[in-house]
Amino acid sequence: MIEIIAISGSLRAASTNSALLAALAANTPADCRVEVYDGLGRLPIFNPDDEGERTPPEAVRLIEMITRADGVIVSCPEYAHGVPGGMKNALDWLVSRDAAVGKPAMLVHASPRSLYARAALAEVMRTMSFAMYEEPALEIALLGKKLGEVEAILAQPANCQAMRDVVQGFVEFMRGR
Ligand SMILES: Cc1cc2nc3c(=O)[nH]c(=O)nc-3n(C[C@H](O)[C@H](O)[C@H](O)COP(=O)(O)O)c2cc1C
Repeated sequence: MIEIIAISGSLRAASTNSALLAALAANTPADCRVEVYDGLGRLPIFNPDDEGERTPPEAVRLIEMITRADGVIVSCPEYAHGVPGGMKNALDWLVSRDAAVGKPAMLVHASPRSLYARAALAEVMRTMSFAMYEEPALEIALLGKKLGEVEAILAQPANCQAMRDVVQGFVEFMRGR
């Protein structure tokens, strides 16, 4: 069984990025499980003085989840042409560990915009030595849609197939490493 951790960069209750990841988790290939990380809002702000023995419990939990996982999927909004602080903060807790090193990772997109954040996130994650699965990107345009519309779009057969295909491709990428 391939185990994947998915992280949404948005804390909004009606987040389109979180909805996309929940739909991905429901549309995985048979031999694969996607667990959506729910602790982003509980992570303290990263401080290098709080590593080692002093690492906060939520950061320890995140580090252990990423360490155990076979791969990571991130779906993240863009705020003011950048990566939202909460998402970057989660990654900062992983920088000086082995958790990210060589860990397969993939970005998926709930907005057709957000090009600065996509590029910045990919650069940060490559720098952290995540093994980025770059192709093909999954983009389902949910920007500005209400929850009911989001659910309807994510339930469309073509989108369910696209989600299965991209996770299948990611699983093959992981197995080929
Ligand atoms: C404070 C703030 C700043 C934003 N800045 C940008 C931006 O620079 N570029 C962009 O494409 N979208 C921007 N957006 C729009 C969000 O990226 C977009 O609504 C996103 O899809 C929301 O994701 P969510 O539904 O998962 O919360 C901004 C939204 C907020 C709340």
